[in-house]
Amino acid sequence: MAAIRAQEHSRPDRLFADPYAQHFLDASGDAIFAAGTQTAASTPELFTLMADQVAVRTRFLDDALTSAARAGTPQTVLLACGMDARAFRLDWPPATALFEVDFADTLAYRAAVLSAHDITATCRRTEVPTDLRENWPTALCAAGFDPNLPTAWLMEGILYALTSHAADLLLERVTANSAPGSTLALDHQEDSALLRSARAALSKELVDIWHGGPSEDLNSWLARYGWQPEVHALEEVTTTHGRPVPPPFDPQRPDTGRSWLAIGRLPS
Ligand SMILES: C[S@@+](CC[C@H](N)C(=O)[O-])C[C@H]1O[C@@H](n2cnc3c(N)ncnc32)[C@H](O)[C@@H]1O
Repeated sequence: MAAIRAQEHSRPDRLFADPYAQHFLDASGDAIFAAGTQTAASTPELFTLMADQVAVRTRFLDDALTSAARAGTPQTVLLACGMDARAFRLDWPPATALFEVDFADTLAYRAAVLSAHDITATCRRTEVPTDLRENWPTALCAAGFDPNLPTAWLMEGILYALTSHAADLLLERVTANSAPGSTLALDHQEDSALLRSARAALSKELVDIWHGGPSEDLNSWLARYGWQPEVHALEEVTTTHGRPVPPPFDPQRPDTGRSWLAIGRLPS
């Protein structure tokens, strides 16, 4: 994800700025990412196939989270944040409390990379090292999260990796900790032969990561938990930004799945 975000950052027509993504690539020591070595031929096919989906989803989710914060939502939770740099690169109302949830070692790696650079958060940022399969709301509350205040939640790039049961459990816990007026921003995608073979070319782990996520469409899944859904097909949003429909999610092709960007809202 960091590689694709770094690539997007370097485009003159970029949809978002993420100057920090390259730091993660540099720190990885992986030859694929060495500065100046990337050519069209050496770029993994997966990165090329996913580039516009990641660009458009990042922008969509950036806008959803910052709009909620500017409209007065006091806290934001990035679930499974990985190398997400939103706490540093977006223009937050300074009082926004932003919680970053991931495994302890992932957060430690990210902190070590960022500490080598002079980077400060533009909000009140708190890391929450925990395992999302366990009782993570307790860890979140212990870190200062207040379930009685409206929250803007982010589930980016994670639903497809969950079983339908795990996705249900995640949304159940998010909902149980969401005060009226909360927002949930997410993306979701289906698998396809095209994506599977591009993942296989990088690693077996990336093939096995896919579990499919919610067993029903996003509109009914969100509504079942009380969220008012706003669901966009990816191709609708890419077109708005003047980007091509990414091949793995192009409904005109026979070998593809679909991808969606969504916002759920709990009435105030
Ligand atoms: C595909 S990445 C998505 C990262 C980020 N949202 C993005 O789009 O760049 C998945 C992230 O989920 C985290 N993750 C996976 N399983 C987890 C779990 N059980 N508890 C906490 N974090 C987990 C991983 O450490 C990784 O950072």
